[in-house]
Amino acid sequence: MVAVRPVPDENERLPMLLGFQPVAENTARQTRFIERGRGIYVYDTDGREYIEATASFYVAALGYQNEELIDALTAQYRELPFFVSAMHRTPKVALDLAEKLVELLPLRDPHVLFGSSGSEAIDFMLKMLRFQAAARGTPARKTVIGRWGSYHGGTLASASLTGGHHEEFLLPLPGFRHVSQPDYHGMRTPGETPHEFSARLARELEETIVREPSGSVAAFFCEPVSFSCGFKVPPAEYFPAIRGVLDAHGVDLVCDEVVSGIGRTGQWFGSQTLGVTPTHMTLAKGITSGYFPLSVVALGRDLYDDLERGSNHVGTLAHAGTYAAHPVGAAAALKMLEIVERDGLVAHAAEMGRHLEMRLRAFADHPLVGDVRALGLGGALDFLRRDGDDRPLQTEAEADAVCLRVYEALFDLGVVARPAGRSLVIAPPLIVQRSEIDEICRRVGKALHLSEEGAR
Ligand SMILES: Cc1ncc(COP(=O)(O)O)c(C=O)c1O
Repeated sequence: MVAVRPVPDENERLPMLLGFQPVAENTARQTRFIERGRGIYVYDTDGREYIEATASFYVAALGYQNEELIDALTAQYRELPFFVSAMHRTPKVALDLAEKLVELLPLRDPHVLFGSSGSEAIDFMLKMLRFQAAARGTPARKTVIGRWGSYHGGTLASASLTGGHHEEFLLPLPGFRHVSQPDYHGMRTPGETPHEFSARLARELEETIVREPSGSVAAFFCEPVSFSCGFKVPPAEYFPAIRGVLDAHGVDLVCDEVVSGIGRTGQWFGSQTLGVTPTHMTLAKGITSGYFPLSVVALGRDLYDDLERGSNHVGTLAHAGTYAAHPVGAAAALKMLEIVERDGLVAHAAEMGRHLEMRLRAFADHPLVGDVRALGLGGALDFLRRDGDDRPLQTEAEADAVCLRVYEALFDLGVVARPAGRSLVIAPPLIVQRSEIDEICRRVGKALHLSEEGAR
């Protein structure tokens, strides 16, 4: 039962809507207005300082006010602030970025298509898969599978792929199916091993595929590690089992690396950290550190070949995004990648991640904490506890409520973390320093203590 919220006073309503909160809470009183940032810190209009311990939804990888990045954007604005990429013309800097990405991407001979947001990258990916199906003469091959709990975006198609919040938007659109998240801590039956659990999820995926008309499933979409779903790090056995099923049924694997790409998991791409080779990939967020909206669809060679064949047949690829391959976005991404390489930020993220993990694991025995997960420069405290017989001690809703309480206590202590269901996710900018991780974790400890006291 959803709580009935008080109707805000007419003068209090903001003239804008904010997402992932009740509409009635779009009020000045309940909103913090952030006006500047520096390093890993942001400041609101009351002068309060916060540590952005999620890089603001996993975006601001270089933190705030990175002068080099600002200079690169400014220079590009002066040189060529805009040019569209279509009809035999494109900004040269977009080509430079494509060449750099092709060098880095762990795909066989990839080609890239640009977009303006993560959602658009997902939509474009889905659209290209459909174009491929048409080009191959297999138009039925357009069903895709996502996972419950994963977030893939706000457009109709990406929200259909997202594993939740369907009913209120009358989604999903036709052709979207969902399978379980590899939530070993929450979903395992008492005593079930990671191997058994992974085999069960692989069976579920296979059953989902074979329930569909033969040859109609085009792709399985997943984040290598789902940040949106509360940082559910899959068991080591999960991806080999899933890959086996997909290969057996000729289904592509699309890794949505909108969050996990560009160093976040301690390697360039999350799929590398998880040891899985995707067929295609999507990137956004950290690729420009959020200084300009830009996303990437990285297409495997076979799909690219089919696009060529199909467009030869139709006469064109009738697709574009006015702001896709934006020169300022491309300049931002190129500079971002240069800084990440030059400053060894992928290795730095891995090193800082090990420190974060060590600090988070120190909370494993806290009475509120049921599980601690960490991977690369990301970690989560999970508030679902299990008893000595490996049975959950609370419902999901109860664990979610604990998570929210800790999140709010931490926010009051000036740290922005991310409550994702029953897990509190920490994933600071890639530039974070050891002492800053210590400070984040000192406040996490305090927030846990305050939340425990509040519960008594
Ligand atoms: C894994 C993942 N994919 C896609 C998206 C959508 O990206 P955007 O908000 O840029 O449209 C998000 C956003 O949080 C995400 O976490």
